[in-house]
Amino acid sequence: MASSTRSAGLPPAGERAPFVRAMFGRIAGRYDRMNAVMTLGRDRVWRRRVVDVAALPPEGRLLDIGTGTGGIALAARERFDRLTVVAADFTPEMMAVGRRAPDGRRVCWCAADALALPFADAGFDAVVSGYLVRNVTGLDRLFAEQFRVLKPGGRLVCLDTTPPRGPLAPLIRFHFKRIIPLMGQWVGGDRGAYTYLPESTRAFATPEALAARLIRAGFVQVRWRTFMFGTMALHAAVKPPAIGPR
Ligand SMILES: C[S@@+](CC[C@H](N)C(=O)[O-])C[C@H]1O[C@@H](n2cnc3c(N)ncnc32)[C@H](O)[C@@H]1O
Repeated sequence: MASSTRSAGLPPAGERAPFVRAMFGRIAGRYDRMNAVMTLGRDRVWRRRVVDVAALPPEGRLLDIGTGTGGIALAARERFDRLTVVAADFTPEMMAVGRRAPDGRRVCWCAADALALPFADAGFDAVVSGYLVRNVTGLDRLFAEQFRVLKPGGRLVCLDTTPPRGPLAPLIRFHFKRIIPLMGQWVGGDRGAYTYLPESTRAFATPEALAARLIRAGFVQVRWRTFMFGTMALHAAVKPPAIGPR
């Protein structure tokens, strides 16, 4: 499957997790600034969109997995005052940045591997992620864990980059391959991390393939849409509601 395919510039599947953790540990302090520059500030709008699509009950429980500096978790915190917001990641340096945000103390930060979540079954109304899935080898396990910790009827929402296609694809590939690494060097101070971004995007699952994996994991009402000239995809899916006694 695309996410575990070996590609030039990507470490082999077995080495991906330590590679990813070290890379985000290195760029944590500049991550938010680099996102704002690369997306002309649109990234905040997209994270708020993830919160909207999660359709949370105001007093519900949200898990933002692969939270990084907590962009989605903090957007949810801002939107719903009484929501329980759990933000989890395996790179402590990223979460340390989020903790220092104005609302950072009103989020429960948790060191966790997305492939082995330290949470009980059926505890969350929604599980969301932003730019996590592309980094993980083992999509079946990733989605199985999210399915497990969701309440019946709960929602999964995932936002990630997607391999460019269509008439603008050559232009987008040029931008990803040449411009983004240069921006990464100047603004993010780490060309390597921003070479990984286009490489991992190119090797990633198409939106259709990702939707098929969600269905295979047991989700229903799987929907997705692309935006930003087809470079981003937002998937939403529902864990089937429990069937009550007849
Ligand atoms: C590109 S950042 C995204 C951060 C944030 N969600 C956002 O929207 O900007 C990806 C994050 O996923 C985390 N990550 C990658 N693989 C993970 C795993 N297996 N378990 C937990 N976190 C993981 C990384 O540490 C990193 O903080």
